[in-house]
Amino acid sequence: MTKTSRGFSRFCISAVLIAGVFGVQGIAHCQAADETPAAESAPEYSGMSPTLCLGCHGERGMKPAAGILQHPMANQADPNTPFGEGNHACESCHGPSKAHAMSGGQKPPAVKFNAETPFEVKNESCLSCHGKQRSHFHWPGATHNIEGVACNDCHKVHQAVDPVMDVETQTEVCYTCHQEQRAQFLRQSRHPVQAASNAFSHTGLMTCTDCHNPHGSDGAASLNRSTVNESCYDCHAEKRGPYLWEHQPVREDCSNCHNPHGSNYPNLLNARTPWLCQQCHSAVNHSSTALSGIDVAPNSFDRRVVGKDCMNCHAKVHGSNHPSGVALTR
Ligand code: HEC
Ligand code: HEC
Ligand code: HEC
Ligand code: HEC
Ligand code: HEC
Ligand code: HEC
Ligand code: HEC
Ligand code: HEC
Ligand code: HEC
Ligand code: HEC
Repeated sequence: MTKTSRGFSRFCISAVLIAGVFGVQGIAHCQAADETPAAESAPEYSGMSPTLCLGCHGERGMKPAAGILQHPMANQADPNTPFGEGNHACESCHGPSKAHAMSGGQKPPAVKFNAETPFEVKNESCLSCHGKQRSHFHWPGATHNIEGVACNDCHKVHQAVDPVMDVETQTEVCYTCHQEQRAQFLRQSRHPVQAASNAFSHTGLMTCTDCHNPHGSDGAASLNRSTVNESCYDCHAEKRGPYLWEHQPVREDCSNCHNPHGSNYPNLLNARTPWLCQQCHSAVNHSSTALSGIDVAPNSFDRRVVGKDCMNCHAKVHGSNHPSGVALTR
């Protein structure tokens, strides 16, 4: 079965390449071309999908599949959808499955999309149409692709509303694999993404895809923007500056001090001040003595600093625009 599917897609890929910039439109041609019987054993389309298929897989049938008709992809008016004219309805995704239908289910459909189906086979089926989309530009190098995650691990197409496309339910889909991130988003300070399991949570203001592109990107951690900072500036524009007096670690990477998901310290901080600051500012200046009270540096003003938080004085930790804000104090 794997073998026939692969043969099918290799044929398709060359057709898509010829179709070139026409993108999704090229696919209709690709699938039409596929109807030409190439090899003797080439699996055939039934030519009667979806009617034939729904005869057995209708609402009261076995493995009911009519839910696909509620999905946006069932739009018959759009020639690029599986149900558009010239395409093969159910078999646009499940592959040429005449033998399956005619054998009453004894022979398998070309593409099953179950746990045993190799993920490449599943994904090639979807990518025959979606591969040329701008949103899938980075898919070949995407972490999810490399890790063998299938389109249908995230997308549910046999229903009206795909939970991963819905702001309210997206995070739950991600959490099925990303338990650690679930825990981070339950911490006291967190970005307000949906966390349905926590009665005290903020709800539905943000989603994972406000920062990440699950189809891959040219940035680290599949971020929508090429750097962490650019991702943060999308919503925290004021932190972009420019500042007269900059604080180097802020320019470098917001995650020097913040956990973008959540933290048990206030303001998503990686540690509490002054310890946060002392990870980088050590022994040589007044800061090291701020809490200890020991005069190690003769010129420092330790007594004023003792017992005070760095932020009491260095309030402009992200940068300062005050002419005398060089020490980020104003
Ligand atoms: C005559 C009845 C019949 C027709 C017509 C039919 N199927 Fe099936 N189909 C079955 C049966 C029976 C099974 C269950 C096989 C099993 O559980 O092992 C099945 C299972 C499937 C599965 C699930 C395979 C799996 O193991 O996960 C898919 C997908 C499928 N059919 C697609 C189609 C498509 C597409 C068509 C139309 C081209 C179609 N079927 C037409 C009877 C039919
Ligand atoms: C856009 C691609 C696509 C189209 C079009 C499509 N399917 Fe599916 N089908 C899938 C995927 C993906 C799955 C795996 C289930 C999942 O992950 O949601 C699936 C699963 C199935 C199953 C197994 C369900 C089960 O309970 O195990 C059957 C049967 C099936 N499809 C039949 C059909 C029939 C019949 C049609 C046409 C009416 C159809 N499919 C149209 C993608 C498609
Ligand atoms: C025959 C071509 C074709 C195939 C095969 C195909 N798609 Fe689509 N898909 C489309 C088109 C065209 C649209 C745009 C439909 C619209 O919004 O009008 C679409 C839309 C979508 C959407 C957006 C739905 C929304 O809510 O706006 C998702 C998600 C999607 N497809 C996933 C898949 C997955 C997963 C597969 C494989 C299981 C697949 N597609 C296979 C053509 C295809
Ligand atoms: C890790 C989960 C995940 C995987 C794997 C995944 N997607 Fe998506 N996809 C999403 C999410 C989340 C969105 C909604 C994006 C948004 O709202 O910005 C989306 C949106 C889409 C859309 C509609 C919007 C658009 O970008 O055009 C299509 C079509 C789509 N995905 C197809 C696919 C196909 C095809 C595959 C497999 C090659 C795939 N996806 C793999 C999570 C995933
Ligand atoms: C089927 C399991 C699965 C699902 C569902 C899933 N992921 Fe992943 N994801 C993985 C695996 C495996 C990795 C690679 C190992 C890791 O970093 O945990 C990964 C990695 C990531 C990474 C790091 C990427 C990188 O380039 O370093 C991000 C970000 C991510 N996933 C976001 C999401 C989002 C957002 C969703 C929901 C829309 C999602 N994932 C759903 C399995 C999944
Ligand atoms: C406010 C932006 C933002 C949101 C919202 C967000 N992330 Fe992230 N995520 C990041 C950043 C930034 C990184 C990279 C951290 C780094 O490089 O130190 C990251 C890293 C990751 C990683 C890679 C492992 C790691 O922790 O470094 C995974 C997996 C991940 N995020 C999953 C998710 C999931 C799942 C969601 C939704 C539940 C989500 N993220 C929501 C910004 C965000
Ligand atoms: C999509 C918009 C968006 C993006 C992108 C974003 N944030 Fe936020 N951020 C928010 C919202 C909304 C809040 C909550 C504001 C509130 O509760 O008043 C917030 C709050 C915060 C807080 C305060 C948390 C607290 O406990 O009060 C910090 C710190 C923060 N964000 C840092 C970051 C960093 C670092 C990045 C980049 C990794 C980032 N944000 C990206 C929207 C965003
Ligand atoms: C050197 C450590 C450090 C770095 C790097 C850093 N921050 Fe902060 N951030 C803090 C501290 C400390 C607070 C708490 C501020 C307070 O107590 O007044 C904070 C608070 C915040 C807040 C919530 C309060 C407010 O000012 O709106 C946001 C949002 C925020 N930071 C965003 C960012 C962004 C975006 C970046 C990257 C451009 C960044 N931070 C880099 C230390 C840092
Ligand atoms: C990741 C490392 C790092 C962290 C964490 C950090 N800083 Fe810095 N900080 C730097 C670097 C690097 C410079 C630039 C030093 C230089 O130019 O010699 C700097 C400069 C400063 C300056 C002096 C500005 C000047 O040019 O004279 C102050 C004040 C300062 N930091 C305060 C803080 C405070 C308060 C915190 C905790 C909220 C903190 N820093 C956390 C790395 C860090
Ligand atoms: C009571 C106010 C106050 C507190 C509290 C304070 N500072 Fe300062 N800090 C200053 C002033 C004022 C300067 C400028 C000194 C100068 O120009 O000679 C300064 C200078 C600095 C500098 C610039 C380098 C240097 O030594 O001149 C760094 C780095 C710094 N502080 C870090 C910290 C850290 C880290 C903490 C917390 C552990 C902290 N400060 C607590 C007032 C304070």
